[in-house]
Amino acid sequence: MSFKEKLNSTQMPQHIAIIMDGNGRWAREKGEMRVFGHQNGVSAVREALEGAVEIGLKYLTLYAFSTENWNRPEFEVNALMELLVNSLNEELPTFQKNNIRVNCIGRTSDLPVHCQATLQDTIDQTKDNLGCTLTLALSYGSRQEILEATKAIALKVKNNQLAIEDIHEDTISQHLYTHDMPDPDLLIRTSGEERISNYMLWQIAYAELFFLPIMWPEFSREHLFECIYYFQNRERRFGKTSEQL
Ligand code: IPE
Ligand code: IPE
Ligand code: MG
Repeated sequence: MSFKEKLNSTQMPQHIAIIMDGNGRWAREKGEMRVFGHQNGVSAVREALEGAVEIGLKYLTLYAFSTENWNRPEFEVNALMELLVNSLNEELPTFQKNNIRVNCIGRTSDLPVHCQATLQDTIDQTKDNLGCTLTLALSYGSRQEILEATKAIALKVKNNQLAIEDIHEDTISQHLYTHDMPDPDLLIRTSGEERISNYMLWQIAYAELFFLPIMWPEFSREHLFECIYYFQNRERRFGKTSEQL
């Protein structure tokens, strides 16, 4: 029986976040250039997205480029940017057919202008799709996000638009790039690395974490279903005792 058939439809996650890692190592193991790994990572993105659509997932958020990734060689950064533009153009019919809304989080003003244009065009063209929201984290850094939120809140306090006593956890959530989506229930990272690398630090406070030993180009929808299956079989206590649940 496949993991998909074993899923409990009454306990489906709403939001899955993925750190797509291991493209470079996958390619180097094959004696290829790192960029070959990124190219092959695109089909894994398709797998994840199709899997998400199959099970009616509402939010899928993919870490595609971090604020720290700007420190990579220029050649690799450029290749990643071109891959983004080409993939968005190629996948637009699939987004429309599958009712997928594309969204992005991060400091996208740092992206090359033509990438920003393609991204905005994809966002505009898919804005009325109400199925799955695919969010791409691009030039994303969680500390940067929290810093920007802090400054925005401080400015409101300074301008007497917000009282200090009215700053709650929700106030912070509402000032993050992710203000219009629920927190991830599940975070998946491929490549065997067990770290968060500056991804959604606030939002994953109670997410269930899954670290898979496979490299991102090897990821298939069956891995997604497997993680959801194990997610459904974990006891989420949120600080309470087992007996209280
Ligand atoms: C993930 O794969 C893709 C990006 C970070 C853009 P990597 O490029 O980090 O691959 P490894 O981790 O070096 O193998
Ligand atoms: C995290 O992967 C960023 C993305 C997947 C986009 P990295 O490969 O950049 O992370 P580190 O450097 O291993 O922590
Ligand atoms: Mg990596």
